[in-house]
Amino acid sequence: MSGVRVLDVGCGVNKLPGSIGIDRNPRTRADVLCDLDRIPYPFRDSSFDRLQAVHVIEHVADVLRAMEEFHRLVRDGGTIFLVTPHYTDFSSFCDPTHRWHLNSFSFRYFGDDNAGYGYYSAARLREKKVRVRLLALWRYLGFEFLVNAFPRFRRFWEHYLCFVVRGKVMEFEFEVVK
Ligand SMILES: C[S@@+](CC[C@H](N)C(=O)[O-])C[C@H]1O[C@@H](n2cnc3c(N)ncnc32)[C@H](O)[C@@H]1O
Repeated sequence: MSGVRVLDVGCGVNKLPGSIGIDRNPRTRADVLCDLDRIPYPFRDSSFDRLQAVHVIEHVADVLRAMEEFHRLVRDGGTIFLVTPHYTDFSSFCDPTHRWHLNSFSFRYFGDDNAGYGYYSAARLREKKVRVRLLALWRYLGFEFLVNAFPRFRRFWEHYLCFVVRGKVMEFEFEVVK
């Protein structure tokens, strides 16, 4: 990734090689110690081409404000990559440091039509990819394929099936729009 400026938010001990890592815990591989609940984060606007937050957004105090900071730090056309548990997974609730339990539509206020709630945030993100992983049994039975191949089926799954056909982890890739 030479020449690409990457910020690894909440990098922990698995910082992405070549990235700048931020975390509040000094026992991590962070290059900059920073509390994500204290805004602004210590970087200029549009400092990065790509930002990743892997298993981090569920820990912050305010998801919308943190996402707005991610949006501020990445240039127009850059990428935000998030990984977070689906709320039906064991991992979502077994960790008491998780403050939020999210689903695959949890970032829709940043999308094109803001899900009809444009007043929550002025930050705009274009959804490039949403990938939901399911527990192995459901993957083998083909549900994971259906959920990811057909957005309408994903909505149906979230509404009707996910308490039985449980999710595991979600990956989101957004393009920053400024
Ligand atoms: C589950 S770990 C994920 C670490 C790494 N991204 C990975 O995938 O291995 C969550 C990380 O977020 C950091 N974190 C949680 N809340 C934070 C906050 N308010 N400010 C800064 N870092 C925070 C933790 O210190 C921890 O390193």
